Amino acid sequence: MALLVVITGYQATPWVSKLQAFEPKLDIRVWPEVGDPDEIDFALTWRHPMGEFKKYRNLKCIASMGAGVEHILCDPDLPHGVPITRIVEPSMPQSMIEYVVMVVLNYCRHYDLYRKQQIEQQWLLKIPILARNVGIGIMGLGQLGGDAAEKLSHLGFQVAGWNRTPKIINGVKTFSGDDQLNEFLAHTRILICLLPLTPGTKDILNRDLFDKLQPGAYVINVARGEHLVEQDLLYALETGQLSGACLDVFRTEPLPKDHPFWRHPKIVVTPHISSLTIPAAVVPQIIENYHRALSGNPLLNEVDIRRGY
Ligand code: NAP
Ligand code: GLV
Repeated sequence: MALLVVITGYQATPWVSKLQAFEPKLDIRVWPEVGDPDEIDFALTWRHPMGEFKKYRNLKCIASMGAGVEHILCDPDLPHGVPITRIVEPSMPQSMIEYVVMVVLNYCRHYDLYRKQQIEQQWLLKIPILARNVGIGIMGLGQLGGDAAEKLSHLGFQVAGWNRTPKIINGVKTFSGDDQLNEFLAHTRILICLLPLTPGTKDILNRDLFDKLQPGAYVINVARGEHLVEQDLLYALETGQLSGACLDVFRTEPLPKDHPFWRHPKIVVTPHISSLTIPAAVVPQIIENYHRALSGNPLLNEVDIRRGY
């Protein structure tokens, strides 16, 4: 019985050391040093090589190292009937709201302008945008978006949220479904995308949607790069329909060196860090699921594969 860690593009070491510290007797294999594939019961993964999991005949669970699972579900050779789990843990919404508040307040208090003025030793004032005068729209009211909506509302912003199914959140005006999307967008000066990536949400941040936001709106994408049509963002920034964007996620990560977003004066780029998974915080739920998978008990945070999140 073994747990396999399959991770590409990042280091496995912090994961392995935390798993070992939590359960010293666990047989942990780190891809590509897999050993006998039939001994693998459980895979913990982030961006695995496509087709990898079909090699493990006794696999009982594929666990995402993050909240999102599209990096698993996009594998055309995923073994049938193997459940998939994701991370749900308080440090994720905590980290996300800290990032979102940082970006929203930078926007409202013209922080980038003052950094620029400092370099030029300029003393020029610009009236701040007070929270009560700003409509923030959050797409996706799940673990992260729901929490962000509630907390931004506590800061005094006019918060609206858009979700697949209707949802009630104190202090937040909520909308749901395609029928209510336009009304939601019309309210929005700062748009925050916290949707899962599914066929229904891919490319959703496009020209048509930007045109329905308040003129000069600001876009924050902290969900997935594939939500955004990159050329449409550049166009909306050029026409002034959007005044800026803060992007934490990209279609290609790391963002290629020659990508126009790097040097765009109206775009802030961060390297997919708005809510990093902290191995020490989530290892207990991974180990719990490992034991549940071995004993055939219901898993924690299992995703609905057909729904896609
Ligand atoms: P979640 O709890 O599964 O919430 C997803 C929400 O989106 C649900 O409320 C769902 O509505 C809604 N939704 C799904 N499809 C929709 C659609 N077509 N139209 C409108 N609403 C829709 O997910 P989460 O934990 O909040 O995470 C959201 C995403 O954030 C993840 O999938 C991941 O891609 C991204 N993320 C990014 C980072 C980062 O560091 N940048 C970190 C963590 C997560 P229902 O309630 O009706 O199902
Ligand atoms: C990060 O992007 C995650 O899905 O947790």
